[in-house]
Amino acid sequence: MRLGIPCQPPDRSMTAATPQTVEQLIRLGYDVVVQRGAGAPAQFPDAAYEEAGAQLADRAETWGCNVVVTAYAPDDAELDLMHPGATLIGRLDPARHPELVQSLQDHSLTALAIDTVPRISRAQSMDVLSSQANLAGYRAVIEAAAHFGRLLNGQVTAAGKFPPASVYVIGAGVAGLAAIGTAYSLGAVVKGTDVRPEVADQVKSVGAEFVPVPTAQEVSADGYAKEMSTDQAALANALYAEQSAAADIVITTANIPGRRAPLLLDRAAIDAMQPGSVIVDMAAANGGNTELTVPGEVVTTDSGVTIVGYTDLAERLPAQASQLYGRNILNLLTLVTPAKDGDLTLDLDDQVVRAITVCQAGELLWPPPPVAVSAAPKAPAAPTPEPAPDASADAEAQAAARARSRRRMTIGLALAAVAVAVLVLVTPAAATSHYIVLALAVILGFHVISNVTPALHTPLMSVTNAISGIILLGAISQVGNANPAISAVAFIAILLASINVFGGFAVTNRMLAMFRKE
Ligand code: NAI
Repeated sequence: MRLGIPCQPPDRSMTAATPQTVEQLIRLGYDVVVQRGAGAPAQFPDAAYEEAGAQLADRAETWGCNVVVTAYAPDDAELDLMHPGATLIGRLDPARHPELVQSLQDHSLTALAIDTVPRISRAQSMDVLSSQANLAGYRAVIEAAAHFGRLLNGQVTAAGKFPPASVYVIGAGVAGLAAIGTAYSLGAVVKGTDVRPEVADQVKSVGAEFVPVPTAQEVSADGYAKEMSTDQAALANALYAEQSAAADIVITTANIPGRRAPLLLDRAAIDAMQPGSVIVDMAAANGGNTELTVPGEVVTTDSGVTIVGYTDLAERLPAQASQLYGRNILNLLTLVTPAKDGDLTLDLDDQVVRAITVCQAGELLWPPPPVAVSAAPKAPAAPTPEPAPDASADAEAQAAARARSRRRMTIGLALAAVAVAVLVLVTPAAATSHYIVLALAVILGFHVISNVTPALHTPLMSVTNAISGIILLGAISQVGNANPAISAVAFIAILLASINVFGGFAVTNRMLAMFRKE
């Protein structure tokens, strides 16, 4: 299939593919077509794309590809250039743009909104909101420091001393934690708040003091915070006002997906802040966390407080924003191109694919059934809609590919069962009971592990490492066995278990190093 990377709107800078990801997209079997100039705002020249194997083209040819990948929601004029049945992948934010969803249907397109991947471990590599929010959190502190006009770290010099600046971050999601880490590394004294009390440890681990909200809040099944009641919000806002009045810089990141951002600081709270203080309102695009935010602008109130309402913080680091976005896109395309033959195949039984599919050949599939990611009870899955009888050849081909992949899986399982049966038959009778124990352990283990919530996967990995330790002991006791077959199996067991044990420690070390201050 031909995969097009069009230019971004004139005032935007992010691109959906870098020369590096183009190379990998070609390895997935796609013929990549890049519109001339698409990478220029992110410092990727056309020549680099050509060198990576892409074909350079004009606007109409790029939008006319079978698959079009954008970094922004397209307008109607751009959708008019797409062929019915073609696939669009991009940040479409369908919950807040019903008119775009309608237009995608009217154009008989298949649309994948990469900004709606569920917050589950498997989808992390495609989670564009997280990757961009991480950069945006960093940039928010840099913007704040530039507008603050004073040092962030404390200094003692012969000519005098300055205390460190105090930074208060409201909302400790991905962006908030990145902002806390950055402000702390620049030497500020940082405090952080979130309505979810369980993030307290994360806030502390990146260098801030956690200030709990007087009223603890529940998390909904999708892993995001729920909207507060009016009474809860009033109590929380009183705390935010008090903390903000004592801070030099306030960074607000509170967000409830699909809703207007909660209002945290009203005019009175802003007026109570010191003149010269700075607020960076990261939720400006969703309506803003303060009463005086102007989306996209920097304003200074009569009381001398500067409010930064930029809605493109991540894109102010365009090369890296594009690199991360390009990687998220590559990971998504790897998922939907299982045969690596450049043929995009939507497996709607896959919860990640289902969650991002807005429509298929014009047939509306939005909103998807909810995906539970926390300890909250799982919502019953809605039945997958049958494809419409008049769905295009593309949809039929995708259904056939799904059936093929299911058939392949059944055949694979049947072959595995036959192999196990043969193994049992050729093994001495004394060992048969071990196979029964092994089979029961596999069945039991599968059921236990599939019921573990994703939040507990990391501790679960530590437990599997500990189990490897037991395997290691058993294998060491058998490695000197006179029977060379037993000795060989024990040696392999030592090798594999050691990789797990030492690899586990290495990964843990790397994870810890991410939080360590040099
Ligand atoms: P997130 O959903 O991971 O984090 C939001 C956090 O706010 C959550 O931890 C939630 O518990 C907390 N929260 C919700 N309501 C609250 C309240 N009333 N008081 C205190 N905390 C509350 O979101 P993420 O990815 O960290 O993004 C944060 C914000 O930054 C979003 O509004 C997002 O749209 C925005 N963003 C802005 C960018 C820009 O260029 N301005 C770029 C990227 C993200």
